[in-house]
Amino acid sequence: MWSTLRELRIQADWWLKGRLRWSAPARIDPVGDLEPWLADLPENQRARAEALRERYDLSSWSTGCDREDVELNLYHLDILDQHLSDVPAPTRALDVGCRAWWNLPANHAFRPAPWLGIELDGHQRYVDGATRAGLARRRTELFEGASYRTGSVTELDGPYDLIVWLLPYITPGAFGADRLPRRYFSPDALLDHVLGLLSEQGTLLIINQGEDEARVQRELLASRSVEVTELGRLESPWPAFETERYGFRCSVNRAAGVEGAR
Ligand SMILES: C[S@@+](CC[C@H](N)C(=O)[O-])C[C@H]1O[C@@H](n2cnc3c(N)ncnc32)[C@H](O)[C@@H]1O
Repeated sequence: MWSTLRELRIQADWWLKGRLRWSAPARIDPVGDLEPWLADLPENQRARAEALRERYDLSSWSTGCDREDVELNLYHLDILDQHLSDVPAPTRALDVGCRAWWNLPANHAFRPAPWLGIELDGHQRYVDGATRAGLARRRTELFEGASYRTGSVTELDGPYDLIVWLLPYITPGAFGADRLPRRYFSPDALLDHVLGLLSEQGTLLIINQGEDEARVQRELLASRSVEVTELGRLESPWPAFETERYGFRCSVNRAAGVEGAR
């Protein structure tokens, strides 16, 4: 009874949100000159940040990266660099379920390709009246070639050479916390669709939260025609998130004819 009422309420909120799409102007508070900011970091983080800065062009961060998000973006860039540094320049790249796309600066620095961010719940509103989509679109204006779309990843066609998918909903608990209509909880169908978006030699990075999710993710991947490299627990000098994260690097390698292999 209570769960039915809760679901009805979620459905009603979702319907309303889909009709109230207007966003107040979204503001970002750009970090500006990175130099003094990096100089203040603890030694291990500064050394890693310098190494990343030598390898990647972070100049667009001064206008495009919010102060609050610099550490998170250094963390994300660190993870991309550690685990995907051999990925060739993509023709098109995709970030699945990117919310307001806090990690666009790192994605773009890592591979300055045309990135698309897709988010199902893009009309979710902040207290200042801006929506996720409004904020994300403001961010895309600051990174060449980036674009954002509100909707389900299942509406997209491929191919994409690089896909990042941070914290897909694969357990009911995490899904329930975000108050999305139940019909959107479909880990199997979404995984199949996202794998189908990969180009012949494309790479998908999936990141999950906690050991339980990692176990579920492992099982989901095991039953599919996909090559998987388990990255294990992700380590970084930036303790960016409270709950430990685990990574899976996937490719379908259609060109090499290894579909069916794991
Ligand atoms: C746990 S959040 C992760 C957000 C973001 N990637 C991050 O790391 O902060 C999962 C996100 O996926 C989105 N999502 C769920 N199903 C989706 C779908 N079918 N297509 C696009 N986005 C989806 C949710 O709305 C939510 O914002």
